[in-house]
Parts: sequence; C-alpha cells; structure tokens
Amino acid sequence: MKVLNIGSMNLDHVYNVDHIVQPGETQATDGMNIFLGGKGMNQSIALAKAGADVYHGGMIGNDGQLFLDACKEYGVKSDYIRQIKGKTGHAIIQIDKSAQNCILLYGGANERLTEEYVDEVLAGFEEGDMLLLQNEVNMIPYIVDKAYEKGMQIALNPSPFNDRLKDVDMSKISLFLMNEVEGGQITGLTDPEEIIAKVVELYPNAKIVLTLGKDGAIYAEGNVRIQQPIFKVEAVDTTAAGDTFTGYFLAGLIEGMEIADILKMSAKASSIAVTREGAVPSIPYRAEVMDALK
Ligand code: RIB
Repeated sequence: MKVLNIGSMNLDHVYNVDHIVQPGETQATDGMNIFLGGKGMNQSIALAKAGADVYHGGMIGNDGQLFLDACKEYGVKSDYIRQIKGKTGHAIIQIDKSAQNCILLYGGANERLTEEYVDEVLAGFEEGDMLLLQNEVNMIPYIVDKAYEKGMQIALNPSPFNDRLKDVDMSKISLFLMNEVEGGQITGLTDPEEIIAKVVELYPNAKIVLTLGKDGAIYAEGNVRIQQPIFKVEAVDTTAAGDTFTGYFLAGLIEGMEIADILKMSAKASSIAVTREGAVPSIPYRAEVMDALK
C-alpha cells in the first residue's frame, strides 16, 4: 500500500510573546524564529519519522527549496511537490508563556492546486492506497472525489475547519482525525461522547480519532471506544502536536498495530513534540518514542 499526503507547506514565523496580542495592542516580542511547518508537511514528516513510506504532494513557491531539502533529510518522497512562481505559504505564530499558540495563515502556493495537477498526482496511486488530507490546500472536495473513484482509502484531518469543507462528501472518508473543536464544528455538538456518537451515526463505516487536549484522545469504530490519556510534560510549544499524533497514528495503522498501542505511541510522540520549539524540528523519531515508552 502506498501513502500519499497532499497538503500544505508553510514557513512558520514564530514569535515568543508574553500573551496573545489583543485587538488594538502593540506588543514587543521576546524572540523570533522561522521553522518549516504546515499541517501537511508536519504530518508527512511525522509519518516518515514513524517509519512509514510517504509521498508528499503540494505546491511551493520560489522560496520553498527548504521543503525539498527537508523531504530528502527525513525520507519523505517529494516527486509530486511542484515549485511554482510566487510565494510559498506562510504562518505567523504567537507562542505565549503557557506554550499556547495562535496562528495566522497565508496560503500562497498551497492555494494554487489545479485539477490537472491533482489528476497527475493521483495517476501514480491505485485502489487500496492511502490518501491523507488536511484543509490547508485548495481542491479538497475534488481530491476526495477523484481518490474515492480510484478506490483509495481517505484519511481526513479537517483542520482548520472552515466552510470549504462543507463541499466535501464526508461519506467518502474512511478515517477522521480531529480535535474536539473540529468535531464540534462538524456535528454542532460540544460533548466529546456526543460528538463521537454523531460522527459514528453519520459515517458508520469510518474510523474516528478525537483528540481532547489535556484529556487525551478517544478512538471510535462502531461500538468500540478506546481511550488514551496524555503523557504529562512541561510544554514549550504545542505547534504540530496534533500533526505529530496524526502522522504517528496513521503510520501505526498502516503497520497493522493494535489500536491501543497506536494511541499510546502517538500520544507519547506528541508529548515529546510539545517539549521542543517549532513544527517540523519538534517531531521525534520512532526510536526515541519507543525508548520513552519503555
Ligand atoms: O498544525 C501546525 C501548523 O499549522 C503550523 O506548522 C502552521 O504552519 C499551520 O499550518
């Protein structure tokens, strides 16, 4: 089975701040770094560091060479990444003293996918292959329809959730990986148990992973529910914690591991990521995660 992730690549401009800036306020920052990020690239690198063989698809601009270098360094296959004229996507991220963040996105090249490009990428995949998507590139409804027609399995991290996802035929999704905010936006509910029950009712053939911040994560499939608490750590930067969890979860699923073990490995990987700055550089390798679980 081949794994394809069509997703965003962002240059993350990260500012350390006392508190998240308020409307009308000007605040001096305690420091600034530029890290590689984007939910798409973060998840591909988490998959690769977890040991999966992953192809990444998406667009970068003239300033995006660093992403090709990172793919080489971490073992992500970059054959389907296209470099186009214009700017790579970027994010402006504030990290406050309690490690919480807020993120402003500029889509740039991430929003320039075309039907021709998607068709060309999907031509390299077949029935049974796995497609992973987030919501930081355009064409998501088209990609879902075309991949489903081919018989690919589709995993969706509906993040960030916005109106454009309303055009996606969610009945074509085989695995949802989302946090409770996104689960709430999809179902209109707030209680995690009710969110899960609703998603199971709406999409009975899908597997669901709902992450709940400090309350851990729940896996659901039909009547099955498996809970995973968090591993408590001193967080410095929570950016890409969810992406690390997603990449590790999918890698474990592809390997055929038991769900309880996958959840534990993913929670541990994500707990390590939050102790480090940045998105891509914070994601741990599998060996480190397994050592920490001993
Ligand atoms: O999930 C974290 C990511 O969200 C960051 O790397 C940033 O680029 C935004 O896409």
